[in-house]
Amino acid sequence: MQRRVILGTGGTIAGRSDRQGDNVGYVAGEVRVEDLMARIPALSDMSLEVEQVDQIDSKDMHFGLWKRLAERVAHHLAREDVAGLVITHGTDTLEETAYFLEKVLRPNKPVVLTCAMRPSTALVPDGPQNLLDAVNVAGCVDLSGVVVVCAGMVHRAEHVVKVHSYRVDAFDSGDAGPVACVEEGEVRWFHSSRRGSAYAAGGTALLEQVLSADALPRVDIVTSHADTDGGLVRALLAASAVDAAHLPRGLVVAATGNGTVHRDLEAALREAQLRGVRVIRSTRCARGRVIPDAKNPLRDSAGLSPVKARLALALDLLSE
Ligand code: SIN
Repeated sequence: MQRRVILGTGGTIAGRSDRQGDNVGYVAGEVRVEDLMARIPALSDMSLEVEQVDQIDSKDMHFGLWKRLAERVAHHLAREDVAGLVITHGTDTLEETAYFLEKVLRPNKPVVLTCAMRPSTALVPDGPQNLLDAVNVAGCVDLSGVVVVCAGMVHRAEHVVKVHSYRVDAFDSGDAGPVACVEEGEVRWFHSSRRGSAYAAGGTALLEQVLSADALPRVDIVTSHADTDGGLVRALLAASAVDAAHLPRGLVVAATGNGTVHRDLEAALREAQLRGVRVIRSTRCARGRVIPDAKNPLRDSAGLSPVKARLALALDLLSE
């Protein structure tokens, strides 16, 4: 039987409240991952290995922890006896970590992120079922790449987005849809291809660049909305005239609709572009993408949401 490795990072799945049944007044990242696993009898006869990488509320996710996680995942992926990995994670930035690991590691085995919307002390915690489902998905021999398992559905890292602030089925894959569901431990695939890109085993050049960097190149997100005046971007440009460290290397604009930007914000973004800042247009719409338009001087995000476009641009800048 091939081994699966479970890496704990915290989140609501590891959350605890003094008042049983309190679904909001709890502290995330309190319960160790082996204690969560001990509550799931079906895991007891599986070949599992556990590592507590951190215990955080994922709203506080940072590059240092991403680096540590990438290093630990790369280490276990390279082991012949390991079939796949599960990472327990908070829901709030889970899609960013999933996308980061996919881009940097290009795993040739399943790397499955899972989570919960209810703390471990809830009347009906959703974490145990999600964790069990994730372990089953991590055992799929013909699956490669990073996926997210939540509420019985399997989502690809590239498409997954947190769409609900409270419900247990908090994730969606937009127009692409989920790739599979998990039913009584069986994974039912909706598509024939279970592979990510043509991934090579082991580390990539990008992984080495990430591991030797102190920080990602700075990329900020601004939103286009009614009545904006581009003041935030202009403030950044003014501050950077005094201290160049304030100038971001890139800006992602969460644009309206099909990538349209308020004219005053657009003027400020064009000024930033002239100062060498890379500007990318994503959409603030919950679904759909910015349709590519070669004539637009602000490049589109190739279908990525604002937070993933931010990461993609930062990693591009790092590897230049
Ligand atoms: C977190 O993201 O760590 C807290 C919220 C959650 O997991 O739902």
